[in-house]
Amino acid sequence: MTEKKLVIDYLEYDSLEEMTPQDQELVKAADEARKGSYSPYSNFQVGAALRLENGLIIKGANQENAAYPSGLCAERTAMFAASANYPDVAFDTLAVSAADHGVQCELPASPCGNCRQVMAEYQKKYGKPLKIILAGQKRIRKFWKVDDVLPFIFDSLKV
Ligand code: THU
Repeated sequence: MTEKKLVIDYLEYDSLEEMTPQDQELVKAADEARKGSYSPYSNFQVGAALRLENGLIIKGANQENAAYPSGLCAERTAMFAASANYPDVAFDTLAVSAADHGVQCELPASPCGNCRQVMAEYQKKYGKPLKIILAGQKRIRKFWKVDDVLPFIFDSLKV
């Protein structure tokens, strides 16, 4: 038996200005994407902005339904739209921004397990690490690959 430890490297920012201009642009796109949220049941608005390898930014927002499981998170809305419309263009970075009753959350919202598994699938599809930015008003976290938010991924790529 060996005792092992898992270490996750990620960046934590206190403000948007500390980020690269490209990442700032993506976070702003995720903030903007919240406007597309349809969330009459939870009143929790989530926006996602996915930068593709060719520079295109695809936005998504959570879509709710009276039959709860029929809704979809912002992250999957963006990823499915991107893969459906640009199937051959790899994903580069996914930014997520959340608000409660229209007020941006101070701390970053963390993607649900289903969205993490979908991120893992596209990381595998395109064969390159998908970076993830989780943006709150007071703290922003940047992860370098899906494995860092979903350790021991089923069918993991060794990236
Ligand atoms: N939601 C997202 O869109 N992304 C997340 O990362 C967490 C949760 C949505 C689902 C639902 O519409 C609302 O937020 C409340 O759970």
